[in-house]
Amino acid sequence: IVSHRLSVSFLMVQEYLEPFCLSLEKLQEVSARLKRDFSRGLGKHSHHKAPVKMLPTFVRATPDGTEKGDFLALDLGGTNFRVLHVRVVEEQQKVLKMDSQICAIPQDMMLGTGEQLFDHIAACLSDFLVSQDLKGQTLPLGFTFSFPCEQKEIDKSILIRWTKGFNCSGVEGKDVVKLLKEAIHRRGDYDIGSVAMVNDTVGTMMSCGYRDQSCEIGMIIGTGTNACYMEEMKNVKRVEGEDGRMCINTEWGGFGDDGSLKDIQTEFDRVVDKMSINTGVHTFEKMISGMYLGEIVRLVLVKLTEDKLLFKGQSSEALKTPGRFETKFISEIEEQDNGLENAQNILTKLGLKWELVDSRVVRLVCDTISSRSARLCAAALATIANRIRVNRGLDHLKTTVGVDGTVYRKHPK
Ligand code: BGC
Repeated sequence: IVSHRLSVSFLMVQEYLEPFCLSLEKLQEVSARLKRDFSRGLGKHSHHKAPVKMLPTFVRATPDGTEKGDFLALDLGGTNFRVLHVRVVEEQQKVLKMDSQICAIPQDMMLGTGEQLFDHIAACLSDFLVSQDLKGQTLPLGFTFSFPCEQKEIDKSILIRWTKGFNCSGVEGKDVVKLLKEAIHRRGDYDIGSVAMVNDTVGTMMSCGYRDQSCEIGMIIGTGTNACYMEEMKNVKRVEGEDGRMCINTEWGGFGDDGSLKDIQTEFDRVVDKMSINTGVHTFEKMISGMYLGEIVRLVLVKLTEDKLLFKGQSSEALKTPGRFETKFISEIEEQDNGLENAQNILTKLGLKWELVDSRVVRLVCDTISSRSARLCAAALATIANRIRVNRGLDHLKTTVGVDGTVYRKHPK
């Protein structure tokens, strides 16, 4: 009787989850649309309106492994803000020595003024330099700034728009490197050398490429999602010159912002978009990345509970509260060995009365939402790999993808 009840409710739940299950044909269609959007983003006259921005990065080569030196680095735009001191020593066979410190960015600062944000960054860097005994030195600095920027040069980069819950005033449309330098000068207690600004996808490709020269794609699946790759200069119409290559920051998170993904968006995706602080933008990102996955799962669970397919129809305050089902729960619930037990503990903490079948259904929901995320990333990655292959006139391309991001690191599958 128990197993009969289980399979009946599973069948009914599966119907609700159907819209999240994308067939291979659908994924190929999605890939074909992205391919077209890549061309629009690269075009001299079409890029202004293109949902996928294809931003030149002014990075013209991947590392060859001989790089060396002493650098500072800032990393802003993921789960944490980090300050680092990196030493690259060629003689010792690519030894990377790294000290780092994580600084919290309080929620109200993410929504405050740009000046407050950059003052905070400059203060964190100052504390770090003191702790590392580096204040007297003027080291070059790599600034990983993980938001879409119209890059004018490697050290001049205009923020197009905030994403991932940031919305500081007075930064969009401004040169972010300049804002950082100004904040440091306002303090006047230390200085930095030349600055190179990169997107996190580019930083990931470069650091992976330092060890593996066949790495020419970088991908992030974290709080947000995005990828970059090495494009032929002759196709980068916005930058002078025909020779060689340049890394392009695709900003694939914006895919679908012109409505091209309407057919695969579910009612839950639409609610997530509507409730976000950037409605109508980063459609693709909102189906994939860590900032949104937990919330999609929560909305599905709410609906299943309302329709009496979960918890005997009894919800809880926590389940009804946006943001309370965290993305990290998905990873915990999908763990191979302890997943069900984790699910049960999480449901208890959310104030829900569950039976075995409920924990199984919750696990199925998590698996469905994260599988969709993975498939969409795979389709988009295949679009990039195919583009590089065709660019080079090859039948077959062998390449390496550098990947990072909290979802990628933490999800068990
Ligand atoms: C940003 C990208 C970034 C990605 C991953 C997106 O929201 O627009 O610039 O690479 O998140 O961090």
